[in-house]
Amino acid sequence: MAYETLLVSTQDGVTLIRLNRPEALNALNSQLLGELCTALDAAEADDAVACVVLTGSERAFAAGADIKEMSEKTYAQMFKSDFFGDAARRIEQFRKPIVAAVAGYALGGGCELAMLCDFIIAAETAKFGQPEINLGVAPGIGGTQRLTRAVGKSKAMDMILTGRMMDAAEAERGGLVSRVVPADKLMDEAMAAAAKIASQSPLAVMMNKELVDAAFETTLAAGVTLERRLFHSLFAFDDQKEGMAAFVEKRKPAFKGS
Ligand code: HXC
Repeated sequence: MAYETLLVSTQDGVTLIRLNRPEALNALNSQLLGELCTALDAAEADDAVACVVLTGSERAFAAGADIKEMSEKTYAQMFKSDFFGDAARRIEQFRKPIVAAVAGYALGGGCELAMLCDFIIAAETAKFGQPEINLGVAPGIGGTQRLTRAVGKSKAMDMILTGRMMDAAEAERGGLVSRVVPADKLMDEAMAAAAKIASQSPLAVMMNKELVDAAFETTLAAGVTLERRLFHSLFAFDDQKEGMAAFVEKRKPAFKGS
């Protein structure tokens, strides 16, 4: 598949997707999000892919939805096309882990895209923000909901109502990102995390992802019950036998995804 707005490669169980619209700081337009959905479809369908890394450039992960594409839209057009709803749902429903590797700007839809991923590794240069208020609008792909869940009401309100940016250190303190690393180590760190995930049982990985996601949707009691049920169900797979046998035999497990 030839992409015009992405660079996509797969190696050792990891698909690396790099947003590639340098002239617009990787602003998200319909073409880019359509191609991203296609790349995710391919990664989902390929049994050899265990994990995805999503990244941008050194200057920008993505500086938001493409303001030039949006500026002339009418309410009827936005509503009828459910603007960017398809892409957001596609990423939400992707069953394999997606690690966001963020350097530079992750603003507006770019911050929301990073938050749609399963966790965020940030370079020290990363800057996060929801500056939509400066344009007279609001976040539209989950920013008000996911940023609030990630960093709490006070910081989310501050960011969303003032439109200010948060640097990597503040993002880590607030719990938005899982790790901050020097910019020149970002891709090594993200690819190593993805390789570690790719070495695990893909069945256990998918179930663990579902369980953490469930924490945002259910009560504690229902979430804990779901966890116990899925934990029990993992004993139906060869990978559980292999993982525990390998521990007992003091060797590395060789998971087969069965
Ligand atoms: C379209 C963008 C863009 C964007 C940058 N560019 N962000 N084009 N949409 N979101 C373009 C600029 O127009 C410029 O192209 C080129 O990228 C470089 O940007 P500069 O502004 O010259 O760079 P700099 O001075 O370094 O400033 C960087 C920046 C600034 C602080 C990131 O570009 C900025 O504020 N961008 C907008 C950020 C934003 O408001 N994002 C939220 C969008 S709304 P030209 O050709 O002009 O030189 C959103 C809603 C999501 O995301 C919900 C959707 C459903």
